[in-house]
Amino acid sequence: MRAIVFERNGGPEVLELQNRPTPIPGDGEVLVDVEAVGVNYRDVYERNGGGYGSAPPAIIGVEGAGKIAGTDERVAWAHIDGSYAEQIAAPRDKLVAIPDGVSCKVAAAALLQGMTAHYLAADSYPVGQDDWVIVHAAAGGVGLLLTQLAKARGGRVIATTSTEEKANLARGAGADHVIGYAGFAERTKEITGGQGVKAVYDGVGKTTFLEGLNALAPTGRMILYGAASGQPDPLPLSTLGPAGSLYVQRPTLQTYTRTPELLQERARALFDLIGSGALDIRIGAQYPLEAARRAHEDLEARNTTGKLLLIS
Ligand SMILES: NC(=O)c1ccc[n+]([C@@H]2O[C@H](COP(=O)([O-])OP(=O)(O)OC[C@H]3O[C@@H](n4cnc5c(N)ncnc54)[C@H](OP(=O)(O)O)[C@@H]3O)[C@@H](O)[C@H]2O)c1
Repeated sequence: MRAIVFERNGGPEVLELQNRPTPIPGDGEVLVDVEAVGVNYRDVYERNGGGYGSAPPAIIGVEGAGKIAGTDERVAWAHIDGSYAEQIAAPRDKLVAIPDGVSCKVAAAALLQGMTAHYLAADSYPVGQDDWVIVHAAAGGVGLLLTQLAKARGGRVIATTSTEEKANLARGAGADHVIGYAGFAERTKEITGGQGVKAVYDGVGKTTFLEGLNALAPTGRMILYGAASGQPDPLPLSTLGPAGSLYVQRPTLQTYTRTPELLQERARALFDLIGSGALDIRIGAQYPLEAARRAHEDLEARNTTGKLLLIS
């Protein structure tokens, strides 16, 4: 079978198409024929190295959807190593069934970023009626879904994006105000009449994190869920008091789906939202499996919107 392997850590150039033996499922595992692979920003961290994800040499990626080999059973997953491949040996308890009416592509596009957006809006800071929140990188994979979910919960969203095209997508997802990154905390204070926001959802990190603290209302929550621009500088905890008794969280989807029951519950909630039409899944681009390198280049160059898929 064909797979995308990285033999060493580094830039997109370390991704290579290789022929690998068909994986042999172990106890509790099944062989899955992969139809669509989900590309996530975490794959960039895995490829770069630094202790995140699999160590090279390895097949990269963790998300996808397809059929259990020899059956018509359609399944999706968000946390199985070695997912950029035509076949995968998948632990049964990490698979979720894809409901009728949802395609494999939509399932692969929705699961990881959708469950993330779901726990962010419902648990990290449960968005309430009329709450102001900031969603950074709102035209990205997580951002477009989080904006929709925050709005569905009655919140008011201030979205950041880097281009006008992305701003239009964020507006389409329901954002009340779309602004650029420069001076976003001050702009937020103006928009909210000096109050600030109840929560900042920050997957950008280094270039936004510290300024985001200045955009929070008293007792507001800074939720740092990723670091697309790099890890933020260290934060002395003593600054949180005078800044308004602020909270900081560094959540992961792994924590919120740490048992098979939590995974199934979160996936069901997500698929219900998709099935009812409350959540629109935007597939921004599809690449053949062998073009994984180009998908990474586009993602890191900030040239993408919504979800990226590899089709195997
Ligand atoms: N903690 C969790 O559970 C969890 C789960 C899933 C994803 N995440 C995190 O969520 C974030 C978004 O992931 P995603 O897969 O949906 O990616 P994405 O948002 O589709 O892509 C990243 C976006 O970040 C923005 N960005 C700002 N500064 C950047 C920089 N210096 N380099 C690259 N991008 C930059 C870009 O949007 P603009 O051009 O509009 O700025 C870019 O499109 C990532 O940090 C990821 O690690 C966390």
